[in-house]
Amino acid sequence: MSLRLAVLASGTGSNLQAILDHVHGRDGIAVVAVGSDKPEAPALARARERGIPTAAFPLADHPDRAARDTALADWLAGNGAELIVLAGYMQLVTPAFLARFPQAVVNVHPALLPAFPGLRAVEQALAYGVRVFGVTVHFVDEGVDTGPLILQRALELPHARVPEDVLPQLHALEHELLPEAIRLIAQGAVRVDPADARRVLLDP
Ligand code: GRF
Repeated sequence: MSLRLAVLASGTGSNLQAILDHVHGRDGIAVVAVGSDKPEAPALARARERGIPTAAFPLADHPDRAARDTALADWLAGNGAELIVLAGYMQLVTPAFLARFPQAVVNVHPALLPAFPGLRAVEQALAYGVRVFGVTVHFVDEGVDTGPLILQRALELPHARVPEDVLPQLHALEHELLPEAIRLIAQGAVRVDPADARRVLLDP
């Protein structure tokens, strides 16, 4: 098995770190590039420490989103990326970007989709009063957190009131689930059902 993956991240990059620590360099899986929309993102520094090529593509450096995403896709493809992992990447990618990597862009979201898509998912869940939180890894489509679901895992916290009651355990869950999804993809165990584009088939 082998897989060359790229990670896009806007923030601290703890999910990137989990990938670097538990997936990168094992079983033929390699992180070949880490990109961001923010030149100062700590995620880029984590990648540089491991000698992985990094680049930032701030919108301000390009005429528009389409041009930015073309440059980003060219850079990712130039580094041989086969799978693009959005790990806290706070930008929507364009349809043209997705077309460059068909069924090969995945995202980690800190809620049990389709509940609480978009920004501040944990805050949304707390405001709703849920007692079960969770994490979703899904293929990215043209919507906001709407693509076919790959893995989900729940976290029962019936007494949570503030984000601090949820986030440490939720992040720990993300750090398990995202590497697990990448390993399954590398094994060829994940595919979208040809008969039902909403459904992801997982080999047992
Ligand atoms: C994670 O909670 C992820 O689910 C969300 O953004 C956060 C990124 O965290 N999309 P980090 O930068 O990986 O620490």
